[in-house]
Amino acid sequence: MTSRNNLKKLILAALLVAIIIVLGLLPGIPLGIIPVPIIFQNMGIMLAGLLLGPRYGSLATVTFVLLVALGFPFLSGGNGGMATLVGPTGGYILSWLLVPIFIGWFTRQKTSFWLTFIGTWLWGVLFADICGSLWLAYQSHLNLGVALASNLIFIPGDTIKALLASLIAHKLKPVIWR
Ligand code: BTN
Repeated sequence: MTSRNNLKKLILAALLVAIIIVLGLLPGIPLGIIPVPIIFQNMGIMLAGLLLGPRYGSLATVTFVLLVALGFPFLSGGNGGMATLVGPTGGYILSWLLVPIFIGWFTRQKTSFWLTFIGTWLWGVLFADICGSLWLAYQSHLNLGVALASNLIFIPGDTIKALLASLIAHKLKPVIWR
């Protein structure tokens, strides 16, 4: 029974990797003011933590980031390779290794939709955007205040993604894990 459950979690982790890759097919929207596009892929990262929990959620994102590091063009706009991990958006991508751990841990016992959403927002939006800003400031020699302030532009869209991911997880989780 346990090994069957583990197999189910592995299959779902593989499915989440596929979903994150498919979300990367949607082209990023360049902003011009900073070298960081608006993307849809980070919603898949939030979903990994919400649906799979800390262990298997991070397995999905570690696998995804590893594939990107190996050169697979799975990021929005067909980007990939080690250079992307140390480029301006590297901080966001590396935060994705931790986001499912924190979301999964924070939301594991939560049955309330709004508590789930708050956990998703705190870790999937606020934490990821702060990590991204810190690295962006360092990598692009930007003033930290400017990097943080420019990231405010992502908050409305990322909040909608967190809301959507929480809604999807709220509906799907009882069906998947019944
Ligand atoms: C890449 O494809 O190189 C990663 C792009 C990271 C974009 C970040 S994720 C958080 C924030 N919200 C967005 O829509 N874009 C930025």
